[in-house]
Amino acid sequence: MNIAIIGTGNVGGALAQQLLKAGHNVLMGAKFPLSEKSIRLATIIGEDRFAAIENAVKQSEVVIITTPPDVVLQIIPELANIKGKTIIDATNSIRSKPGDYPTAFHAIKDITKSDAVVKCFNTTGFENMLNPVYKGEGIDMFCAGNDKIAKQIAGQLAKDIGFASCYDFGNDDKVELLEKLALSWINLAIMQGHGRDIAFKVVRR
Ligand SMILES: NC(=O)c1ccc[n+]([C@@H]2O[C@H](COP(=O)([O-])OP(=O)(O)OC[C@H]3O[C@@H](n4cnc5c(N)ncnc54)[C@H](OP(=O)(O)O)[C@@H]3O)[C@@H](O)[C@H]2O)c1
Repeated sequence: MNIAIIGTGNVGGALAQQLLKAGHNVLMGAKFPLSEKSIRLATIIGEDRFAAIENAVKQSEVVIITTPPDVVLQIIPELANIKGKTIIDATNSIRSKPGDYPTAFHAIKDITKSDAVVKCFNTTGFENMLNPVYKGEGIDMFCAGNDKIAKQIAGQLAKDIGFASCYDFGNDDKVELLEKLALSWINLAIMQGHGRDIAFKVVRR
């Protein structure tokens, strides 16, 4: 698929590397001049994969948002060409919120008036996106939102990059629960001191 990733930091960089490895065509929607983080990523994936956000979005069917959540209030209203694309929101409104919206997902849906918005790639650390395999087995990803096709696309991308399954958490009303799951991972990994090499997996008897 043709995928634009807006945000070239930890999460954007990890997803870009993995999606490229899986055979997808990835364009980074970046700020220019490129930041140090962007330049570091460019040395790994190539400078030709960096474009102005509007151009990256124009050339893609799927747009993954990996910026701080409040940034969507600046960038999304300027992107008339984002309509009709599948938008994957990987942000967490933990340190900052997008204005009066509870999450970036809510802001994106309201601003774009698009149904094809899905929350995914927010529930685990970026290191786990770069390598989702523990002891030979993939860990799990989770997604939420009303749009079934958007969830299918996000779920397929998660599996393409090595997650074992992408569990559907439910509709839009479960998006904030998914951010709480992210906070639960952060709590265990950082506040409770278990370290970032931990991951969630659903097991069955
Ligand atoms: N870190 C994790 O493990 C993790 C896991 C799951 C979800 N998340 C969520 O994912 C999001 C990104 O986290 P991160 O750790 O990847 O952050 P990060 O490394 O700081 O990267 C954020 C990126 O957003 C870009 N950005 C900031 N303002 C922008 C603007 N106005 N226009 C375009 N790009 C802009 C930055 O660009 P410049 O470099 O050019 O400044 C940077 O590339 C956050 O919402 C976070 O809650 C993080």
